[in-house]
Order: sequence, then C-alpha cells, then structure tokens
Amino acid sequence: MLTTLIYQSQSEAEFSDLDLINLTIAACKKNKAIQVTGILLFNGSEFFQVLEGEEEVIDLLFCHISEDQRHTDVVELMRDYSAYRRFSDIGMTFFDLRIADKNTLVDEIHQLDHVQNHHLHDDKIFRLIKRFIAQGAWHRPSCGLKSAQWEMVSKKESRQDRLWQTEKGVLYTFALQPIVEPMSGRIASFEALIRDAKGRSPGAIFSAIPSDSLYAFDLQTKAIALELAGKILRDDEKIAINLLPGSLHTIPNAVAQLTAQISQANLRPEQVIIELLETEVITNTVDFHKILKDIRAAGIGLAVDDFGSGYSRMSFLSKIQPDEIKIDRSLIQDIHKMGGQQSVVVAIVRYCQDMGINLVAEGVEKLEEWCWLQSIGVNLYQGFLFARPCVDGIGEIQWPVKKHHI
Ligand SMILES: Cc1cc2nc3c(=O)[nH]c(=O)nc-3n(C[C@H](O)[C@H](O)[C@H](O)COP(=O)(O)O)c2cc1C
Repeated sequence: MLTTLIYQSQSEAEFSDLDLINLTIAACKKNKAIQVTGILLFNGSEFFQVLEGEEEVIDLLFCHISEDQRHTDVVELMRDYSAYRRFSDIGMTFFDLRIADKNTLVDEIHQLDHVQNHHLHDDKIFRLIKRFIAQGAWHRPSCGLKSAQWEMVSKKESRQDRLWQTEKGVLYTFALQPIVEPMSGRIASFEALIRDAKGRSPGAIFSAIPSDSLYAFDLQTKAIALELAGKILRDDEKIAINLLPGSLHTIPNAVAQLTAQISQANLRPEQVIIELLETEVITNTVDFHKILKDIRAAGIGLAVDDFGSGYSRMSFLSKIQPDEIKIDRSLIQDIHKMGGQQSVVVAIVRYCQDMGINLVAEGVEKLEEWCWLQSIGVNLYQGFLFARPCVDGIGEIQWPVKKHHI
C-alpha cells in the first residue's frame, strides 16, 4: 500500500557541498530503482525528508536511513497511507535552505507535486514542509541529554519485610516498584502491585475474583500493601495503591476504612496516593465527584494512572486537578524517535507544570527515552530501566550516572 513517511534529523558530520551532492545523487539513484519518490530539505544542521513508496519498501529504507551515522536524533513525524503520490518519478529532489529563497520555496516544491491540486498547498504534508522551512526541527530539547554520555549504575536497597496474608484461603503479598527522581537520586514513591504465590500480575489475580466480591477484595487487600509500606517506607516517601473507583463508591465508608488501614500501618494519609485509571475516572463523573471529596477530606493524594491510554475528557481532567498524572507507557515507548508522541507529551508536561501537578513517566525502559523526557522537564520515572517490581520490598535500583571519561 502506498505510504508516506516524513522524518526530521540532526546532521552529525560537517557536510561539505560535495558530501551533500554525493549523498543526494546516491539516494536519488537508489530511490528511483525502488520506486521511491520524495524530497529532502537541509538547513545547515537539520534534515527533513518526505519518502513515498510501497509500505515494505519505505519501512526497509527508513530502517537504513535511521541507522546512518551521518545524522542523529531521527524523529518520525508522520507515517500514513496515501491515495496518490505527491512527487512522481523523481527519486528525490534536494533543497538546500541556506541558499534557497524561502519566500518562493514552497511554491517551488509544489511545482514538483504531480497532482498539482490547488488545495494540496494546504494539506498536512505541505503544512509540515512549511513549518520546517520557517522554524527547523521541533521539540529537539536545546540542552538535550545525550544517551551516549550516560550509563545506568545499580545500587542495592535492601529494604524487605516478608509479609504474606490470606484472603479467602489464598496467600497474597505486594511487590513494590519505585518511582524515582534520577537527577536528585531520590525515591519519590512506590507503587504497590498485588502478587499471589504463583507470582501472577494484578490483572490475572483480579480476573479470577468473582465479580460480587471484587470490590471487597480490592479494598481489603490494600491493608497488606499499607502494612508493608509502613514497615519499609522512610518518612518522606509515599506509597501508591491502585483502587477501582467501584470499591470506593459501593463499599460504605470505604475511605474511612482506608484511613483506618493507613493509621494501623503507622502511615500518614499524605504518604498515600490512590491511583485511579484514566478510563475509570472519566466515565462516571457523578460518582467520581463524591469519591474525590472523601479522598481530599482524608488528606490522601490522588493520581490519574495510564494517562493517554483511554479517551481523555480534558475538560473533566482540568476540573479534578489530581496531585499526580502518570503518562501511559504507550506514549513513552520509543518517544525519542516518534514525533507524534513527543508533541502530545510536551503538551501534557506544559499542562502539569502550569497546574503544579507531579508528572510521572511510566514504562521507561530505554536510556534514550529517559534522556529525551528529562530534557523536556519530566522529573519522575517508573519502569524497568530503573527498577522492576520487587516482592515484599525494594530490590535493586538503577540510577543514571554521567560517564567519567566523557
Ligand atoms: C539525511 C539522509 C537522507 C537519506 N536519504 C536516502 C534516500 O532517500 N534513499 C536512500 O537510498 N538512501 C538515503 N540515505 C542513505 C542511507 O542512509 C543509506 O546510506 C543507503 O540507503 C545505503 O544504501 P546501500 O546499503 O545500498 O549502500 C540518506 C542518508 C541521510 C543521512
């Protein structure tokens, strides 16, 4: 299927005019042979390329281009199917923005457009081209951290307490996964994740519980998580527990029961954060307002979990103003390479900074993801790059450290 891919990148080498000519002649020749059309723009430090062709051909070519050492920070801006090619039979035309007349350049590029429909002047691809011509690459953090300059160094935190408890004849405990602030070396909080003797995940455990006792199970088992946290947490650390909103509004005095569990565990309410799934938070507005009041009155913190995974009703989010938002892993994965995700996350960061909301990036697994997110002002992280959930306590934590020899 005909596919259009657009990316931007940062030139690594000092490109001489000859280098650029050689690159474009070779690329053009190869593109013609594989039926790829498009354009390449260069502004002295950044590239912007539109590639059109059959999907598999474009995927393979983009893999080659992404690995090319002559440029870095290759960020995909658009990948879409098209009904027709904008640029026919040209292999690739190169435009050097340092010598081109920017006022007439868009028209010049439009001349290459073989459809030559007037409305195409305003289509998405041409809007992206115009933006690059006017402003260059976007969202490239100006003082960005370079992943090659950092390494992860492991530090053992041996804080454990064996704590298994029985609910309806089955043994349960909790695994804790830290949420860290790498730049200060601080552990901000821990998310408590239920485990059974088979080591199953919360999803598997909850799906095996009969629906009529789900909410009671959800609330009662939180006592185990809180007791564990009470034994392990330092005074300035917090514990985050996941609760189904249904547990809070169907069980009478649920928040009062939770408050009692918190004080029995020798914790302060401010040390506890309730994480509610974005999808659940926004689908039941009326119930949620009552829950919100009770949680706030008890002094317990509130986080919106998996933010960005559901359909977000932004107006409602702006009203609840949680203490914390956890960006879903689907927006975090490979963010250093994906322009669309970058744009959404930049907007979330800005919103959280404006509203004083703590922002946590979930599911961070790669050093490159952390570098990109840290550079745009995300300070709190959860994910395998830093630590895996550890049953009964805290295991090893990996911290990013700048390499000495650089
Ligand atoms: C900014 C930039 C744009 C490139 N564009 C293309 C292109 O459109 N087509 C292409 O075949 N190679 C392009 N290349 C070169 C590829 O990265 C790679 O060197 C080439 O596909 C290798 O071909 P080979 O394995 O046949 O030698 C580009 C390289 C850079 C740095």
